[in-house]
Amino acid sequence: MKKHILVIDDDTTLLLWFERTLEREGFLGTTCSDPQEGIRRIQDKRYDLIICDQGLGDMEGIQLLTCSQTYYPDVPFIIITGFGSVPKAVESFKKGAADYITKPIDKKELLTLINHVLDEAVSCIPTEELPLLQAEISKTMVGNSEKMQKLFYVIAQIAKTSATVLIEGESGTGKELIARAIHQVSLRSGAPFVAINCGYLNENLLENELFGHVQGAFTGAIKYKKGLMEEANGGTLFLDEIGDMPLLVQTKLLRVLQEREFKPLGSNENIHVDIRVIAATNVNLHEAVVQKKFREDLYYRLAVIPIMVPPLRERTNDIPLLAKHFMQKYGLENGKNVEHITLEAMSRLTHYTWPGNVRELENTIARAVALTTSNSITLDLLIPKASTEKTLFSAIDEETNLREIIRRDTKSAIEEALKLAKGNHSQAARILGISRASLYHKIKKYALPRFSKNNTTSIS
Ligand SMILES: Nc1ncnc2c1ncn2[C@@H]1O[C@H](COP(=O)(O)OP(=O)(O)OP(=O)(O)O)[C@@H](O)[C@H]1O
Ligand SMILES: [Mg+2]
Repeated sequence: MKKHILVIDDDTTLLLWFERTLEREGFLGTTCSDPQEGIRRIQDKRYDLIICDQGLGDMEGIQLLTCSQTYYPDVPFIIITGFGSVPKAVESFKKGAADYITKPIDKKELLTLINHVLDEAVSCIPTEELPLLQAEISKTMVGNSEKMQKLFYVIAQIAKTSATVLIEGESGTGKELIARAIHQVSLRSGAPFVAINCGYLNENLLENELFGHVQGAFTGAIKYKKGLMEEANGGTLFLDEIGDMPLLVQTKLLRVLQEREFKPLGSNENIHVDIRVIAATNVNLHEAVVQKKFREDLYYRLAVIPIMVPPLRERTNDIPLLAKHFMQKYGLENGKNVEHITLEAMSRLTHYTWPGNVRELENTIARAVALTTSNSITLDLLIPKASTEKTLFSAIDEETNLREIIRRDTKSAIEEALKLAKGNHSQAARILGISRASLYHKIKKYALPRFSKNNTTSIS
């Protein structure tokens, strides 16, 4: 069935061009130059896409966007802005626009955008298919809390789209697992899932990894190197720690998201790619935007579907299920028959605040399974060292502010781990059950000495 597109613009010459272009490309187009009539049309029927000029004489396109959001919130809306009018574009994103295009309109850019936005539009999954998709997701991800069930529902809802997703959450909450689950249930599951951590590489290396280079692009570029953008073609590109992406690379990424093409380093030719981008961050990206460390327009383009993964302490009823899941997993891996977690041990697990989230829980259970000499996990196996018991499992005093307890516990756990690991960061991260990147992040956050090995400097 032809997709029906409504175009509203007070420039009748442009409308005529739209009519011809849309028809030639196999769309059904309806145009109108009067904003009041535009509002009536928006209310009257459900279009597949609405394209609307920002300036409409005495009305603003954003007003029509608000109307469309009220009647048909899932219908994508593209705003046409004047050249260089980024603030207006940002404002329209905030109000729910799917995208924007600047005048003068380039036909190729417009068609790419229309196809992309239609492709991204959250399609209504038939109700009978949802439980099947949710069951598929539950095969890899455990969680019976209301928050996680809602999250599985969102993943199922976006399964059949290529919408860009931004996953935010503390370290170890399962962001990468979620990204993989989204890819797995999507129509792209047969194509590659390519992941890169944007926090590990400097600007030049990251650019080279993402976009690749041609022979002779720089000294040492002896042959063509495919970038990850190209490797991920047809599939999903997972950009982890996106908050650490250097500004120059952010600009280049924005272009790929807008135009679906890029040039490898040293090349004059564009490569067209069909990728879904999923980004993840454990810093508050919106704050990074305010601090001008992250491009605002890129933020809105990434956060088409924002997913907030709650920390484990906010979904403690997931802990028993997760603990049993890991007990079985590591029992199998170690060839051990571990079947129970004692009541005392389970109570300890559910009362701890888990600064390292699911990853810390997983490591705790893995260690307990490895150490147990019976078929049970008992309380003593959960305590790594008597000296660390107090800090790692300090009871919550209801009088104290929870945030303060978490801060204090996290800080002293890191200090303890660094001491145990004699300043070796990799080892300290393993003890804590968090990634090295996350350990660095926390060391910075809590202003701990970066290299502490009995007060001498060491690099791990
Ligand atoms: N809901 C879950 N069910 C089962 N396993 C989980 C779940 N959530 C997380 N895990 C496991 O916890 C570990 C950490 O998850 P993951 O690497 O996805 O976290 P993350 O949020 O990407 O962490 P970081 O910010 O440190 O990169 C992984 O081994 C993952 O398989
Ligand atoms: Mg991760």
